[in-house]
Amino acid sequence: MKKVFSGIKPSGDIHIGNYLGAIKGWVDSQDDFDNIFCIVDLHAITVQQDPKILKEKIRETAGLLLACGIDSEKSVLFVQSHISAHSELAWILNCFTPMGWMQRMTQFKEKSEGQKDKVSVGLFDYPALMSADILLYDTDIVPVGEDQTQHVELARDIAKRFNSIYGQVFNVPKAVVTKPGARIMGLQKPENKMSKGGSDTIGLLDSADDIRKKIASAVTDSDNEIKFDSNRAGIYNLLTIYELFSGLDQGEIEKKFAEKGYADFKKDLAEVVVVDLEPIREKYNDIKESGEIEKILEKGADKVRPIAEKKLKEVKNIIGLG
Ligand code: AMP
Ligand code: TRP
Repeated sequence: MKKVFSGIKPSGDIHIGNYLGAIKGWVDSQDDFDNIFCIVDLHAITVQQDPKILKEKIRETAGLLLACGIDSEKSVLFVQSHISAHSELAWILNCFTPMGWMQRMTQFKEKSEGQKDKVSVGLFDYPALMSADILLYDTDIVPVGEDQTQHVELARDIAKRFNSIYGQVFNVPKAVVTKPGARIMGLQKPENKMSKGGSDTIGLLDSADDIRKKIASAVTDSDNEIKFDSNRAGIYNLLTIYELFSGLDQGEIEKKFAEKGYADFKKDLAEVVVVDLEPIREKYNDIKESGEIEKILEKGADKVRPIAEKKLKEVKNIIGLG
């Protein structure tokens, strides 16, 4: 079976962009692959975090992944910092990554804009750690949202460069992006992607009332025509969310709302979102109370540790360390 690896940061609230762009795809293809899913806490600290909240968010993220349907019997779920090989390989990969490659990363440019002295070296170097995550496990497939494809491309380039010097050490992975859903946009600012900590997100743990309110006030336009037109960012994004939650195709959706206005559409949209998210929230509360999360994360780390350590040892040996 092909090997899947993907990760999610335990910072901020997990939102429907994460769900539709990544988590849902992970859940749906669990039976087809060997899966490893990682809560990337070392990536979270590239920007400052409150220690107490970070620890809670790591457990919350794990609980939410399980509530969304990640099955710990079929997939491995673990916390990045539990396996020190990730940091160690990241350092080694740093030494094989030309500055110019790293400087091309658009996410860093966006995140560091106007921040100057506040930006950490870690934020700049973030893709080397992500490459280490992926390359430690001979990953074939990396299912991510569109914003991460450039980082996976970099992991491929680093793997190829390393292999060209030392022979076939790393498997060269491939990003897989699920469309539509690969880029869910903000509700208030549909020109920007929905992101953690943004005010225009729908969190997986939001109450039904909050979801209704947020959707009711989402930005649209004055056309009042319900059509999938990518030039009309606001309504297009809402329609995409509708498509993914309802399972209907675009033609069916346009027909359903042909005679209706935005207010009716938004009401329906809120209901399809609420109907899907409510069971996730309930399941999350059950899992949290069961006390199982800690055990699952420990078991996950125990499963991946030997794989990661073996690969790291091979790399260290081949480059002459120790
Ligand atoms: P992050 O929250 O940045 O750790 O992202 C976890 C996963 O969710 C990654 O695969 C991202 O590409 C994906 N993701 C994050 N935001 C969005 C979004 N607005 N639309 C689609 N996918 C997203
Ligand atoms: N950088 C990814 C994000 O922000 C998270 C991540 C870290 C990841 N390591 C990874 C995703 C490895 C895929 C594979 O979304």
